[in-house]
Amino acid sequence: MNTKIIKIDPVHIDQEEIEAAGKILINGGLVAFPTETVYGLGGDALNAEASKKIYEAKGRPSDNPLIVHISSVDRMTEIVKEVPPQAYLLAEKFWPGPMTLILHKNDRIPYETTGGMDTVAIRLPSDPIARALIDASSGFIAAPSANTSGRPSPTRAEHVIEDLNGRIDEIIDGGAVGIGLESTIIDLTEEVPTILRPGYVTLEMLQEVLDEVRVDPGLIAADSKRKPKAPGMKYRHYAPKAELLLVEGDNTKVVDKINRLCELAVREGKSVGILATEETKGYPKGEVLCIGSRKDEDSIGRHLFGILREFDRMQVDVIYSESFSDARFGQAIMNRLLKAAGHHVLEV
Ligand code: TXA
Ligand code: MG
Repeated sequence: MNTKIIKIDPVHIDQEEIEAAGKILINGGLVAFPTETVYGLGGDALNAEASKKIYEAKGRPSDNPLIVHISSVDRMTEIVKEVPPQAYLLAEKFWPGPMTLILHKNDRIPYETTGGMDTVAIRLPSDPIARALIDASSGFIAAPSANTSGRPSPTRAEHVIEDLNGRIDEIIDGGAVGIGLESTIIDLTEEVPTILRPGYVTLEMLQEVLDEVRVDPGLIAADSKRKPKAPGMKYRHYAPKAELLLVEGDNTKVVDKINRLCELAVREGKSVGILATEETKGYPKGEVLCIGSRKDEDSIGRHLFGILREFDRMQVDVIYSESFSDARFGQAIMNRLLKAAGHHVLEV
Protein backbone atom coordinates (compact mmCIF):
# COMPACT_ATOMS: atom_id res chain seq x y z
CA MET A 1 0.00 0.00 0.00
CA ASN A 2 1.22 3.49 -0.81
CA THR A 3 0.91 5.69 2.28
CA LYS A 4 0.17 9.35 1.58
CA ILE A 5 2.16 11.63 3.88
CA ILE A 6 0.90 15.19 4.28
CA LYS A 7 2.01 18.11 6.44
CA ILE A 8 -0.65 20.17 8.17
CA ASP A 9 0.09 23.32 10.13
CA PRO A 10 -1.92 23.14 13.38
CA VAL A 11 -2.25 26.94 13.42
CA HIS A 12 -3.50 27.26 9.83
CA ILE A 13 -5.36 24.04 9.19
CA ASP A 14 -5.77 23.09 5.54
CA GLN A 15 -9.48 22.25 5.60
CA GLU A 16 -9.41 20.59 2.16
CA GLU A 17 -6.74 18.12 3.29
CA ILE A 18 -8.70 17.43 6.48
CA GLU A 19 -11.91 16.78 4.52
CA ALA A 20 -10.02 14.36 2.26
CA ALA A 21 -8.60 12.53 5.29
CA GLY A 22 -12.09 12.42 6.82
CA LYS A 23 -13.34 10.74 3.62
CA ILE A 24 -10.66 8.08 3.92
CA LEU A 25 -11.94 7.30 7.43
CA ILE A 26 -15.61 7.31 6.38
CA ASN A 27 -14.69 4.85 3.62
CA GLY A 28 -13.09 2.48 6.14
CA GLY A 29 -9.45 3.51 5.66
CA LEU A 30 -6.77 4.35 8.24
CA VAL A 31 -5.21 7.76 8.92
CA ALA A 32 -2.52 8.49 11.51
CA PHE A 33 -2.80 11.93 13.10
CA PRO A 34 -1.27 14.00 15.90
CA THR A 35 -2.91 14.46 19.30
CA GLU A 36 -1.55 16.42 22.25
CA THR A 37 -0.36 13.17 23.90
CA VAL A 38 1.02 10.90 21.15
CA TYR A 39 0.19 10.24 17.49
CA GLY A 40 -2.90 8.07 16.99
CA LEU A 41 -3.74 5.52 14.29
CA GLY A 42 -7.31 6.38 13.37
CA GLY A 43 -10.13 4.33 11.88
CA ASP A 44 -13.93 4.72 12.01
CA ALA A 45 -14.90 3.50 15.51
CA LEU A 46 -18.39 2.51 14.28
CA ASN A 47 -16.95 0.27 11.56
CA ALA A 48 -15.88 -3.22 12.70
CA GLU A 49 -13.78 -3.74 9.56
CA ALA A 50 -11.82 -0.53 10.17
CA SER A 51 -11.03 -1.61 13.72
CA LYS A 52 -9.80 -4.98 12.44
CA LYS A 53 -7.49 -3.14 10.05
CA ILE A 54 -6.06 -1.11 12.95
CA TYR A 55 -5.08 -4.27 14.84
CA GLU A 56 -3.53 -5.69 11.71
CA ALA A 57 -1.51 -2.57 10.86
CA LYS A 58 -0.11 -2.34 14.41
CA GLY A 59 0.38 -6.08 14.87
CA ARG A 60 -1.69 -5.63 18.02
CA PRO A 61 -3.44 -8.46 19.92
CA SER A 62 -7.16 -8.08 19.15
CA ASP A 63 -8.18 -8.38 22.82
CA ASN A 64 -6.63 -4.98 23.50
CA PRO A 65 -9.41 -2.37 23.18
CA LEU A 66 -9.11 0.94 21.30
CA ILE A 67 -9.89 4.47 22.53
CA VAL A 68 -12.76 6.25 20.76
CA HIS A 69 -12.01 9.93 20.08
CA ILE A 70 -14.84 12.47 19.98
CA SER A 71 -14.84 16.24 19.46
CA SER A 72 -17.69 17.37 21.70
CA VAL A 73 -18.88 16.13 25.08
CA ASP A 74 -22.51 15.61 24.03
CA ARG A 75 -21.52 12.98 21.46
CA MET A 76 -20.44 10.74 24.33
CA THR A 77 -24.12 9.99 25.02
CA GLU A 78 -24.48 8.44 21.54
CA ILE A 79 -22.14 5.54 22.26
CA VAL A 80 -22.68 4.68 25.94
CA LYS A 81 -25.51 3.21 28.02
CA GLU A 82 -25.52 6.07 30.48
CA VAL A 83 -23.28 8.89 31.53
CA PRO A 84 -22.60 8.94 35.29
CA PRO A 85 -22.35 12.37 36.96
CA GLN A 86 -18.59 11.93 37.54
CA ALA A 87 -18.09 11.74 33.78
CA TYR A 88 -19.57 15.20 33.33
CA LEU A 89 -17.52 16.59 36.22
CA LEU A 90 -14.31 15.21 34.77
CA ALA A 91 -15.19 16.22 31.22
CA GLU A 92 -15.85 19.77 32.31
CA LYS A 93 -12.50 20.01 34.05
CA PHE A 94 -10.16 18.00 31.79
CA TRP A 95 -11.67 17.91 28.29
CA PRO A 96 -10.51 18.71 25.74
CA GLY A 97 -7.34 17.13 27.00
CA PRO A 98 -5.21 14.11 27.95
CA MET A 99 -7.88 12.09 29.79
CA THR A 100 -9.77 8.94 28.75
CA LEU A 101 -12.95 7.71 30.45
CA ILE A 102 -14.18 4.11 30.50
CA LEU A 103 -17.99 3.76 30.38
CA HIS A 104 -20.49 1.02 29.49
CA LYS A 105 -20.83 0.92 25.70
CA ASN A 106 -24.07 0.68 23.73
CA ASP A 107 -24.73 -1.19 20.46
CA ARG A 108 -23.36 1.53 18.17
CA ILE A 109 -19.81 0.57 19.13
CA PRO A 110 -18.88 -2.81 17.66
CA TYR A 111 -17.05 -5.36 19.80
CA GLU A 112 -14.15 -5.22 17.33
CA THR A 113 -13.45 -1.68 18.57
CA THR A 114 -13.53 -2.64 22.27
CA GLY A 115 -11.61 -5.90 21.96
CA GLY A 116 -14.74 -7.80 22.98
CA MET A 117 -15.40 -5.72 26.09
CA ASP A 118 -18.78 -4.27 27.13
CA THR A 119 -17.10 -1.03 28.08
CA VAL A 120 -15.65 1.66 25.85
CA ALA A 121 -12.78 4.11 26.33
CA ILE A 122 -13.58 7.68 25.24
CA ARG A 123 -11.34 10.72 24.84
CA LEU A 124 -11.87 14.28 23.65
CA PRO A 125 -8.42 15.49 22.54
CA SER A 126 -7.37 19.15 22.48
CA ASP A 127 -5.09 18.99 19.44
CA PRO A 128 -6.67 21.17 16.71
CA ILE A 129 -5.76 18.76 13.88
CA ALA A 130 -7.27 15.83 15.79
CA ARG A 131 -10.43 17.83 16.47
CA ALA A 132 -10.80 18.91 12.84
CA LEU A 133 -10.29 15.33 11.66
CA ILE A 134 -12.90 13.97 14.07
CA ASP A 135 -15.37 16.58 12.79
CA ALA A 136 -14.64 15.52 9.20
CA SER A 137 -15.23 11.83 10.06
CA SER A 138 -18.24 9.95 11.47
CA GLY A 139 -17.47 11.83 14.69
CA PHE A 140 -16.01 8.72 16.32
CA ILE A 141 -12.39 7.83 15.58
CA ALA A 142 -10.94 4.69 17.16
CA ALA A 143 -7.25 5.38 17.68
CA PRO A 144 -4.56 3.53 19.54
CA SER A 145 -1.08 5.01 19.59
CA ALA A 146 0.32 4.90 16.03
CA ASN A 147 3.30 2.61 16.74
CA THR A 148 3.96 -1.01 15.95
CA SER A 149 2.69 -2.96 18.95
CA GLY A 150 5.34 -3.05 21.72
CA ARG A 151 7.46 -0.15 20.44
CA PRO A 152 7.60 3.26 22.12
CA SER A 153 4.59 5.43 21.23
CA PRO A 154 5.21 7.98 18.45
CA THR A 155 5.66 11.61 19.39
CA ARG A 156 6.56 12.85 15.89
CA ALA A 157 5.34 11.91 12.42
CA GLU A 158 8.79 10.44 11.63
CA HIS A 159 8.16 7.77 14.28
CA VAL A 160 4.84 6.86 12.66
CA ILE A 161 6.53 6.67 9.27
CA GLU A 162 9.20 4.35 10.74
CA ASP A 163 6.54 1.93 11.99
CA LEU A 164 3.55 2.19 9.64
CA ASN A 165 4.68 3.49 6.24
CA GLY A 166 3.15 1.23 3.58
CA ARG A 167 0.61 -0.25 6.02
CA ILE A 168 -1.97 2.56 6.25
CA ASP A 169 -3.64 5.05 3.89
CA GLU A 170 -2.35 8.35 5.21
CA ILE A 171 -0.10 9.96 7.82
CA ILE A 172 -0.78 13.54 8.86
CA ASP A 173 2.41 15.28 9.99
CA GLY A 174 1.48 18.02 12.44
CA GLY A 175 4.89 18.32 14.08
CA ALA A 176 6.05 17.19 17.52
CA VAL A 177 3.39 16.57 20.18
CA GLY A 178 3.18 18.62 23.38
CA ILE A 179 2.82 16.06 26.17
CA GLY A 180 4.54 12.94 24.87
CA LEU A 181 2.92 10.31 27.13
CA GLU A 182 -0.50 8.73 26.58
CA SER A 183 -3.66 9.96 28.30
CA THR A 184 -4.67 9.17 31.86
CA ILE A 185 -7.31 6.42 31.78
CA ILE A 186 -10.07 6.47 34.42
CA ASP A 187 -12.52 3.61 34.76
CA LEU A 188 -15.96 4.90 35.75
CA THR A 189 -17.65 1.49 35.56
CA GLU A 190 -16.25 0.51 38.98
CA GLU A 191 -17.73 1.36 42.36
CA VAL A 192 -14.85 3.78 42.93
CA PRO A 193 -13.36 5.61 39.91
CA THR A 194 -10.07 3.89 39.16
CA ILE A 195 -6.95 5.06 37.33
CA LEU A 196 -5.96 2.32 34.90
CA ARG A 197 -3.07 4.23 33.31
CA PRO A 198 -1.33 7.31 34.78
CA GLY A 199 -0.85 10.33 32.52
CA TYR A 200 -0.62 14.09 32.46
CA VAL A 201 -3.87 14.38 34.43
CA THR A 202 -2.58 13.20 37.81
CA LEU A 203 -4.16 11.48 40.81
CA GLU A 204 -3.92 14.76 42.73
CA MET A 205 -5.75 16.64 39.96
CA LEU A 206 -8.50 14.00 39.90
CA GLN A 207 -8.86 14.15 43.68
CA GLU A 208 -9.79 17.80 43.33
CA VAL A 209 -12.84 16.80 41.29
CA LEU A 210 -13.86 13.38 42.62
CA ASP A 211 -14.76 12.44 46.20
CA GLU A 212 -13.00 9.15 45.81
CA VAL A 213 -10.48 7.84 43.27
CA ARG A 214 -7.99 5.00 43.44
CA VAL A 215 -5.14 3.59 41.37
CA ASP A 216 -5.58 0.11 39.84
CA PRO A 217 -3.52 -2.18 42.12
CA GLY A 218 -2.42 -4.20 39.08
CA LEU A 219 -0.75 -1.08 37.75
CA ILE A 220 1.52 -0.50 40.71
CA ALA A 221 2.48 -4.13 41.34
CA ALA A 222 5.87 -4.98 39.90
CA ASP A 223 5.06 -8.70 40.02
CA SER A 224 2.94 -10.22 37.30
CA LYS A 225 0.45 -11.96 39.61
CA ARG A 226 -1.83 -8.96 39.69
CA LYS A 227 -3.12 -8.23 36.22
CA PRO A 228 -3.70 -4.60 35.30
CA LYS A 229 -7.30 -3.91 34.33
CA ALA A 230 -6.51 -2.06 31.11
CA PRO A 231 -5.64 -5.00 28.85
CA GLY A 232 -2.94 -2.96 27.12
CA MET A 233 -1.01 -2.41 30.32
CA LYS A 234 -0.19 -6.09 30.65
CA TYR A 235 1.85 -6.34 27.49
CA ARG A 236 5.59 -5.63 27.27
CA HIS A 237 5.49 -2.12 26.05
CA TYR A 238 7.31 1.06 25.14
CA ALA A 239 10.37 -1.10 24.91
CA PRO A 240 13.57 -0.19 23.07
CA LYS A 241 15.39 -3.07 21.34
CA ALA A 242 18.32 -2.96 23.75
CA GLU A 243 18.19 -4.21 27.31
CA LEU A 244 17.23 -1.29 29.56
CA LEU A 245 18.28 -1.06 33.21
CA LEU A 246 16.85 1.60 35.47
CA VAL A 247 19.18 2.76 38.25
CA GLU A 248 17.35 4.19 41.24
CA GLY A 249 18.56 6.07 44.31
CA ASP A 250 20.43 9.15 45.40
CA ASN A 251 21.54 11.18 42.37
CA THR A 252 25.31 11.11 42.85
CA LYS A 253 25.26 7.38 43.68
CA VAL A 254 23.22 6.73 40.54
CA VAL A 255 25.74 8.58 38.37
CA ASP A 256 28.63 6.65 40.00
CA LYS A 257 26.88 3.33 39.48
CA ILE A 258 26.06 4.06 35.86
CA ASN A 259 29.69 5.06 35.27
CA ARG A 260 30.90 1.75 36.70
CA LEU A 261 28.34 -0.32 34.80
CA CYS A 262 29.24 1.53 31.63
CA GLU A 263 32.94 0.90 32.14
CA LEU A 264 32.33 -2.85 32.58
CA ALA A 265 30.04 -3.11 29.56
CA VAL A 266 32.45 -1.19 27.34
CA ARG A 267 35.25 -3.53 28.45
CA GLU A 268 33.06 -6.44 27.32
CA GLY A 269 32.85 -4.80 23.92
CA LYS A 270 29.27 -3.63 24.29
CA SER A 271 27.97 -0.29 23.09
CA VAL A 272 26.20 1.53 25.87
CA GLY A 273 23.43 4.13 25.86
CA ILE A 274 22.92 6.38 28.86
CA LEU A 275 19.66 8.19 29.52
CA ALA A 276 20.79 11.26 31.40
CA THR A 277 19.50 14.66 32.45
CA GLU A 278 20.72 18.21 31.90
CA GLU A 279 22.18 18.05 35.41
CA THR A 280 24.19 14.85 34.85
CA LYS A 281 24.96 14.62 31.15
CA GLY A 282 28.76 14.76 31.54
CA TYR A 283 29.24 10.97 31.61
CA PRO A 284 32.74 10.24 30.29
CA LYS A 285 31.82 7.06 28.35
CA GLY A 286 28.81 5.74 26.45
CA GLU A 287 26.30 7.32 24.08
CA VAL A 288 24.69 9.91 26.34
CA LEU A 289 21.24 11.27 25.50
CA CYS A 290 19.84 14.08 27.60
CA ILE A 291 16.11 13.90 28.30
CA GLY A 292 15.83 17.39 29.79
CA SER A 293 16.24 19.10 33.11
CA ARG A 294 15.09 17.52 36.36
CA LYS A 295 13.53 20.88 37.10
CA ASP A 296 11.25 20.52 34.09
CA GLU A 297 9.20 17.34 34.41
CA ASP A 298 7.15 18.19 31.32
CA SER A 299 10.23 18.08 29.13
CA ILE A 300 11.15 14.65 30.54
CA GLY A 301 7.70 13.31 29.63
CA ARG A 302 7.83 14.91 26.20
CA HIS A 303 11.22 13.42 25.25
CA LEU A 304 11.07 9.93 26.79
CA PHE A 305 9.66 7.91 23.87
CA GLY A 306 11.72 9.79 21.27
CA ILE A 307 14.91 9.03 23.19
CA LEU A 308 14.08 5.32 23.48
CA ARG A 309 13.67 5.28 19.71
CA GLU A 310 16.94 7.19 19.28
CA PHE A 311 18.77 4.45 21.21
CA ASP A 312 17.26 1.94 18.76
CA ARG A 313 18.66 3.93 15.86
CA MET A 314 22.09 4.00 17.52
CA GLN A 315 21.86 0.21 17.91
CA VAL A 316 23.28 0.23 21.42
CA ASP A 317 23.43 -3.14 23.20
CA VAL A 318 22.43 -1.93 26.62
CA ILE A 319 20.90 1.22 28.09
CA TYR A 320 21.42 2.54 31.61
CA SER A 321 18.81 5.03 32.68
CA GLU A 322 18.57 7.38 35.60
CA SER A 323 15.20 7.35 37.34
CA PHE A 324 12.82 10.08 38.36
CA SER A 325 10.53 11.09 41.18
CA ASP A 326 7.17 9.34 40.88
CA ALA A 327 5.16 12.23 42.28
CA ARG A 328 2.43 13.82 40.13
CA PHE A 329 3.27 13.61 36.38
CA GLY A 330 6.34 11.62 37.46
CA GLN A 331 4.01 8.70 38.11
CA ALA A 332 3.29 8.46 34.38
CA ILE A 333 6.96 8.92 33.49
CA MET A 334 8.09 6.16 35.86
CA ASN A 335 5.21 3.88 34.76
CA ARG A 336 6.43 4.03 31.13
CA LEU A 337 10.11 3.75 32.06
CA LEU A 338 9.49 0.74 34.31
CA LYS A 339 7.51 -0.98 31.58
CA ALA A 340 10.17 -0.17 28.99
CA ALA A 341 12.74 -1.70 31.36
CA GLY A 342 10.56 -4.76 32.00
CA HIS A 343 10.77 -3.73 35.70
CA HIS A 344 14.52 -4.28 35.57
CA VAL A 345 15.62 -1.92 38.36
CA LEU A 346 18.85 -1.58 40.32
CA GLU A 347 18.68 0.21 43.69
CA VAL A 348 21.83 2.00 44.82
O1 TXA B 1 -3.25 9.44 24.66
C1 TXA B 1 -3.83 8.43 24.26
O2 TXA B 1 -4.67 7.84 24.95
C2 TXA B 1 -3.46 7.90 22.88
C3 TXA B 1 -3.92 8.94 21.84
C4 TXA B 1 -3.78 8.45 20.43
O3 TXA B 1 -5.25 9.31 22.10
N1 TXA B 1 -4.06 6.62 22.63
C5 TXA B 1 -3.60 5.48 23.23
O4 TXA B 1 -4.25 4.33 22.83
O5 TXA B 1 -2.71 5.48 24.03
P1 TXA B 1 -3.64 2.87 23.08
O6 TXA B 1 -4.54 1.98 22.32
O7 TXA B 1 -2.23 2.82 22.75
O8 TXA B 1 -3.89 2.63 24.60
C6 TXA B 1 -5.20 2.41 25.06
C7 TXA B 1 -5.18 1.75 26.40
C8 TXA B 1 -4.79 0.29 26.34
O9 TXA B 1 -3.97 -0.01 27.45
C9 TXA B 1 -6.14 -0.41 26.46
O10 TXA B 1 -6.02 -1.68 27.02
C10 TXA B 1 -6.91 0.54 27.35
O11 TXA B 1 -6.52 1.80 26.90
N2 TXA B 1 -8.37 0.42 27.15
C11 TXA B 1 -9.08 0.78 26.06
N3 TXA B 1 -10.38 0.47 26.22
C12 TXA B 1 -10.51 -0.06 27.44
C13 TXA B 1 -11.61 -0.58 28.19
N4 TXA B 1 -12.83 -0.63 27.68
N5 TXA B 1 -11.36 -1.07 29.42
C14 TXA B 1 -10.10 -1.04 29.95
N6 TXA B 1 -9.02 -0.56 29.28
C15 TXA B 1 -9.23 -0.08 28.04
MG1 MG C 1 -0.30 2.25 22.79
